[in-house]
Amino acid sequence: MVVGTSSLLHAGYHHPATRPWQSERAITKSALIYPIFISDNPDDKYEIKSMPEQYRWGVNRLEEFLSPLVKKGLRSVMLFGVVKPESKDPTASIADTEKNPVIQAIGIIKYKFPSLHIGCDVCLCDYTSHGHCGVLFEDGTINNPESVKRLVELAVAYAKAGADCVAPSDMMDGRMKAIKEGLLAANLSHRVSLMAYSAKFASGMYGPFRDACDSAPTFGDRRCYQLPPNARGLARRALARDANEGADFLMVKPALPYLDIIRDAKEDFPNHPIACYQVSGEYSMIWRSAEAGVLDLKRMVFETLESMLRAGATVILTYYTPRMLEWLDELD
Ligand code: PBG
Ligand code: ZN
Repeated sequence: MVVGTSSLLHAGYHHPATRPWQSERAITKSALIYPIFISDNPDDKYEIKSMPEQYRWGVNRLEEFLSPLVKKGLRSVMLFGVVKPESKDPTASIADTEKNPVIQAIGIIKYKFPSLHIGCDVCLCDYTSHGHCGVLFEDGTINNPESVKRLVELAVAYAKAGADCVAPSDMMDGRMKAIKEGLLAANLSHRVSLMAYSAKFASGMYGPFRDACDSAPTFGDRRCYQLPPNARGLARRALARDANEGADFLMVKPALPYLDIIRDAKEDFPNHPIACYQVSGEYSMIWRSAEAGVLDLKRMVFETLESMLRAGATVILTYYTPRMLEWLDELD
């Protein structure tokens, strides 16, 4: 067999030391954000059934939970609140008050772990009685202006409590600009960044998360504000809209079924850090297949996260962060 010498590729990745040379970037601890659930029961450590190894944490237990992770190199967290049904109402009234465990948690984490970057998911669905991400008209459709008003109040409350980053996941129109202006008016715009869940799709992969937060809508679904899964053009428009409104970081979510959208985001906005969210369903799919002996956990986590970097992401939100902190040390 005669082949041209340029056909011979194996030699370039035969030795383990040369394989990393073939990738543009390797995963590092600094690329990871760990999403965590804060319970309104201060002593909680409650395992979420559909998300093995993930818990709802009460504020009194944050130190025991985070301390080992920070020691291993955890740099950034994203906080989600979980409150009792009795605390919810149609306008998410408790969300911007001290009763919201996220607001309590921010202060505690800042005090105990001053170097940890604190992001807060900004949305109403964890606190609304109907479970939708915005305020509703009487007919059950989204009242966008009222929703944006509440989201600004919530984002500014998190920022005032000490959050370093606010991340609106609600998908209301025009919220980035309104929140930036809200931060500016509160003299916080120079130190609080805005991470936009811009290309957030109406996915079947959020089930375990809604279980974690007890936040499934009580009627209807989110297809009138989250993007249709096949809508590439709309996703690009949503990314462009949020970039123009002042988002510091742009996110694509879920990640694995939307790698093409991550690439679009990187190509359209090469000067913005692109984030992606390996969501609860992605987490559980890999975990359950590994548990069943079908796939190898560590290999699959590395492969999926590497695919996201390859597609163009620089920041990855993943529930596998604690595992990755361990595994990345083993590689050294
Ligand atoms: C709420 C929100 C959701 C997620 C992040 N913020 C759920 C949803 O929109 O239904 C999903 C995260 C995950 O599945 O891990 N706005
Ligand atoms: Zn929501």
